[in-house]
Parts: sequence; structure tokens; C-alpha cells
Amino acid sequence: MESQIIEIDIAEWQVSEPNQAWIAALEAGKVLYFPYLPFQLLPQENALLKPSIRDPKVRNISLDLKGHLKGAAADTATQLSLAIMIGRFRDQAQSLIHSLLPDYKPYLRLAPTSYRPTKVETRAQSWRADDRRLHVDAFPSRPNYGERILRVFCNINPNGVPRVWRVGEPFETVAAKFLPRAKPYVPWQASVMKALHITKSLRSEYDHLMLQLHDGMKSDMAYQESAEQVTMPFAAGSVWICFSDQASHAVMSGQYMLEQTLHLPADKQYDPQSSPLAILSRLTGRKLV
Ligand code: SIN
Ligand code: FE
Repeated sequence: MESQIIEIDIAEWQVSEPNQAWIAALEAGKVLYFPYLPFQLLPQENALLKPSIRDPKVRNISLDLKGHLKGAAADTATQLSLAIMIGRFRDQAQSLIHSLLPDYKPYLRLAPTSYRPTKVETRAQSWRADDRRLHVDAFPSRPNYGERILRVFCNINPNGVPRVWRVGEPFETVAAKFLPRAKPYVPWQASVMKALHITKSLRSEYDHLMLQLHDGMKSDMAYQESAEQVTMPFAAGSVWICFSDQASHAVMSGQYMLEQTLHLPADKQYDPQSSPLAILSRLTGRKLV
């Protein structure tokens, strides 16, 4: 399999000019890996690197767009410190994306920023929620009609522990394997889910198929083992970027990561034909949204 990971040796959170080969690789579903791009912690921020800082009722600590911090179990001063650290990462992640992908800039929709202090190996989860299984990201309650999920990840582990991912085969290969097994889309079921507020809006056929790929991959243990894949340790002090609705990925171990999601309309890509929406429409021969 062609390498799914492209290494980029920059040490600043912005590039001087966009690189067409990196853009094409990202839009082909590859992971852009910046091994020498650390996020600088302020001295007092080291105290924020402990798992007990997360409220056990939530999965991650997050900073929303209004600057409100959610999910921390900490006093007011510590909450402020967390908000400053996560906010600084948000600014740097955006500057990196804007310089790498300037054409996206007017169309990006920023999502909350997350801080994940929990050790991956010890998380107990149902198979569907278990991100240690290869998957593409798809959300059951929030249909997105093909809007892209671009993510910036940053390993801030203070003890040199890598965040180990598995990166699987290209999206089209995954889709060709799991589309024939996908349950058909049933419009009235989508209407019922919307009426019952199981989904926030009507689940489109695109959203249905993306969930079918996500569940099909995660529930197939033989696929998990036999699919073409590479194990990739993302070093402490590194950053990586991918379209997580397209790159097949799984997280196996690690602790302390910052993450920024940005959404992009699929038709605002450099090459809209490389999007999951375009690929699934082509493979099914149907308009899916
Ligand atoms: C995921 O998006 O599947 C999880 C990534 C991670 O926690 O490293
Ligand atoms: Fe994921």
C-alpha cells in the first residue's frame, strides 16, 4: 500500500506558502505528520497534565466557541489556566491550517477544542465507541450532509510517550468493501429518528452510509486484523492532521492530547471529487444528500 503518512519537517505553526503535494495528499485521505512541531507549555501548565482534571462524567475537556470550558473537575483558577492553554492551541491550530490550506479559510467552521488527559489503553468502551478499532469518523446524532471533518491533533505528553495510531487503507478501498454490506437507507426511519430527537436533523443517505462504514469496520474483527495498515507512533511534541471522516484510523495508546476540529463544505475543497461524498455518490450512482 502506498504510504498513508506524509512527514513534514516544519518547526513553526505556519508555512510560508502552501504546498500542492501536501494539499493533494491530505485531500486523498492521508495523514500529514509534523514530527518537530511542539506545543509549548507554560511552566504552570504542567500541573494541568493529570487525568483527575477531567470530570469523570465526560469523555474530554473542551473549550467552546464562546470560550466556556466544559468537563473539567477543577477550581476556578485551574479552569482559567486550562482555558488559556486550550485557547492558545486553538489559535496555533488555526494558523497552521490557514497557512497550509489558504483556500479553505473563508469556509471553515470551527468546532470546540478538546483536551484529552485520559490514558487510551485503560478506557472501557462498547465496540461502537471504541476508537481502538479502525474506523472513519461518523456521528450518529449529528448528520453533516457531507461536510468535512478536518482535525488537528497534538501530543503534549510530558514523559515522551507517543500516541500510537493505526492508519488503514484508502477510503475508496474501505467503501468498496463495506458498501455492499451496508443496510439500505430507509427515509421513514430517518424521519422517525428526527421526530424522536435521536438525530438533530434528518439523517441523509450519506450520513447513513458513513455510519454503516463506521459500524461495519468496527464490528468486523477479522477486518481489523487483516486490513492493510501501519502502526504509527506520533511522538510527544508532534502534530498531525487528517480528514478523519476519510482516513481510516484507530488509537491504540497514549495520554495527553489536544485536538481541534474544523468543518469544511465538501464543495470548497481544492478537489471536491476526492471527498467521501463524491466517492460514495460515484460508487452508489446516486445523489446522497
Ligand atoms: C479518534 O478520532 O478516533 C481518536 C483519536 C485519538 O484519540 O487519538
Ligand atoms: Fe476517530
